[in-house]
Amino acid sequence: MLVLGIESSCDETGIALYDTERGLLSHALYSQIAMHAEYGGVVPELASRDHIRRALPLTQQVLDDAGLLLSDLDGIAYTQGPGLAGALLVGTSIAEALAFALNIPTVGVHHLEGHLLAPLLEANPPSFPFVALLVSGGHTQLMRVSGIGDYELLGDTLDDAAGEAFDKTAKLLGLGYPGGPAVSKLAASGKAGRFKLPRPLLNSGDLNFSFSGLKTAVLSIVNDEKSQSGQLDENSKADIAFEFQEAVTEVLTTKCMNALRETGLDSLIVSGGVGANQRLRERLNQAARRKLCHVHYPRPEFCTDNGAMIAFAGAFRLNSMRMQNAIEGNHGFTVKPRWDLAELHTP
Ligand code: KG4
Ligand code: ZN
Repeated sequence: MLVLGIESSCDETGIALYDTERGLLSHALYSQIAMHAEYGGVVPELASRDHIRRALPLTQQVLDDAGLLLSDLDGIAYTQGPGLAGALLVGTSIAEALAFALNIPTVGVHHLEGHLLAPLLEANPPSFPFVALLVSGGHTQLMRVSGIGDYELLGDTLDDAAGEAFDKTAKLLGLGYPGGPAVSKLAASGKAGRFKLPRPLLNSGDLNFSFSGLKTAVLSIVNDEKSQSGQLDENSKADIAFEFQEAVTEVLTTKCMNALRETGLDSLIVSGGVGANQRLRERLNQAARRKLCHVHYPRPEFCTDNGAMIAFAGAFRLNSMRMQNAIEGNHGFTVKPRWDLAELHTP
């Protein structure tokens, strides 16, 4: 079954072709980061308009790359939520209109299910069940994944998501958007020991997270430095970035190892934008090796938003629906800007 995937929930237009027999055939991405950078964050209206400009040319591009035609498609998967309502509407309406014209089925995919399953696009994927750490700009969740659509929430952030903390810290340090890659690049030249930051909820006895206090602690260091020396020099910025990254990755690593211990499972998958962080990968790999566990990641470009994860999750769901004769021909649509992953069911 050949499925076109369309991701348009935020600031990336991602399009991909996934075939249930042959795997991922092609994928393309247009990132709006440069457009939003001058505003310091995503401007929803600009995002929607840009998705309109990019979605169809990228669809043609992935078809050309795979040597296929629109008429070869068996189904279309699109991100139905959660995300920015206007941005979601662009992908959803394009998907439904194309599918109506081609007389093929569609499926609305949960963006986080896409992220969760992204590591399964790689060679040697883990088998179910496994523990998943979903760390993005909007989420920091630990889950037990027993199968597609079978997700049990083990822990969640009580306030800011890890990616959000990276983005806010980047702003405090005067770095650009998105903050994660910028903080992590600066941290590489930072030194240990000069600043101290807390490790929130490290020993809380549960699997929850809290990152907003960390951002406040960074703010207070920045203010102290500025009042003592009149400005924040480059070395101080790098040392703060270093300590911030150490704090976040230590908490994430410890909680992941606790989740493996509590569930008795030996595989962990990590997905979402912060999963691209090299220091996090280093720490998780080291800790997992000690516990004889395995960690699986998507390739870095599939950690952040992309069409491949939507095509993959959608192809699985469409295929299951087809086998159960559960495909509907109705091309009406709604988007779900807020959508709890726990509402999903096994297809
Ligand atoms: O999954 P994603 O592309 O979008 C959603 O939030 O759904 O994740 C984006 C987040 C941003 O907060 C960004 O700063 C963070 O992931 N991020 C990183 C890195 N690359 C992206 N954080 C830390 N280190 C990175 N290398
Ligand atoms: Zn995402």
